[in-house]
Amino acid sequence: MKTAELQKLDRSHVIYSWKPQGGWNPLMIDRAEGIYMYDTDGRKIIDGCSGLLNINIGHSNRHVLEAMKAQMEKLCFVSPGFGTEPKARLAAMVAELTPGDLDYVFFTNGGAEANENAIKAARWFTGRHKIYASWKSYHGATAGAITLTGDPRRWPAEPGIPGVVHFFGPYPYRDPFGSRDEEECGQKTLAVLKEQLMYDNPKSVAAIIMEPVVGTNGIVIPPKSYMKGLRQLCDENGILLIIDEVMAGWGRAGKWFCVEHFDIQPDILTTAKGITSGYVQLGATIWTKKIWDFFQERKFSSGLTYCGHALACACGIANIEVYKKDNLIQKAAEDGEYLKRKLKELEKKHPSVGDTRCIGLWACIELVADKKTKTPLAGYNDSIRSVSGQLSKIFMENNLYLYSNWDYIFISPPLIITRQQIDEMIEIIEKGLAYTDTLVKKS
Ligand SMILES: Cc1ncc(COP(=O)(O)O)c(C=O)c1O
Repeated sequence: MKTAELQKLDRSHVIYSWKPQGGWNPLMIDRAEGIYMYDTDGRKIIDGCSGLLNINIGHSNRHVLEAMKAQMEKLCFVSPGFGTEPKARLAAMVAELTPGDLDYVFFTNGGAEANENAIKAARWFTGRHKIYASWKSYHGATAGAITLTGDPRRWPAEPGIPGVVHFFGPYPYRDPFGSRDEEECGQKTLAVLKEQLMYDNPKSVAAIIMEPVVGTNGIVIPPKSYMKGLRQLCDENGILLIIDEVMAGWGRAGKWFCVEHFDIQPDILTTAKGITSGYVQLGATIWTKKIWDFFQERKFSSGLTYCGHALACACGIANIEVYKKDNLIQKAAEDGEYLKRKLKELEKKHPSVGDTRCIGLWACIELVADKKTKTPLAGYNDSIRSVSGQLSKIFMENNLYLYSNWDYIFISPPLIITRQQIDEMIEIIEKGLAYTDTLVKKS
């Protein structure tokens, strides 16, 4: 089918997420390989955002495709009450890779469902109802997960589910509590959370859910002392710590799981995206032994038709084999250091770059109108002006797909990217920054 015909068909029937339906004309993608996507007219585009930060191993990996084909020939799906080899093997592999005794795996279709099931388990386990979640967060679009979400994607879904309370996590670059450095920011933020809990009755709180590094709200990396303090605060008050690794896991942050950077163990870890690199949908809620033990005699009252889907699990196994075989986790850590240096150069050179943050191959440029005062360029939820539309246009004109919103440009390529390809991306990003530099206040 010709591109124009396809687009017409698409716009006659398909409902798109997070946007008004009128006026949206998606680029039609035909195929993808490695770090590249090809549109229906044959244009080659760098996938600088790994799809939606999920295609960690790159597109069309032969090993994964072969494993999926073999599984499809044998069995795609059985009722979730049955066991299958792919389900049992993937659960065991996940258990081996996740920290400590996070050894028990409930499979879901994606990240939001993983978080829904995490908060259900936490509420039943503790007998408490409140869940604390950070303002700078995204946890998914289902009823509970969007209520947990701190960012404006939550607003249209309000009032949401009862019992969710938001708190300030650490944001060293823009600390609302006025600290001068990262460490102080962590300490002050923790002290404020402690006080908030005191007023709210900590014994009513089932869990605190956190992204270990904030994802779509700006790649904000908390100080290690904050994460250790958070773990201690939870322990002192019988609160479970849920770490949402949906975006952060599977090498994205240069470790199998990002929480390893902070030497703490959550009570529940949620994952999705990189577990299958998006070749097919899969997520998981992973429990420690104490939660597993609790549900030995009590019913875990939750389920999904596609829980432990055989094809998805086979795809997960093959993905883990690729991560290991190609040493992608270490590669992400090493190339992440390279990317970090490149971004620091941009920070020095461009007046519109206020800060750059990078952990593994997971990075963000934060734009400002004034470096000294840190005045935002676009502002929270584009409250000053929108620059991301024009940035996306510039990147796309140069055959680079990057996700940007508000003051953030996200750089999260597949972990297989080469340093030369990183350089190519940086060159194109500079064309976008040439535009944002023109918006900077001349003082
Ligand atoms: C941290 C985090 N949690 C949860 C989700 C929701 O995952 P899904 O879209 O698979 O439901 C996302 C999606 O981007 C995410 O980044």
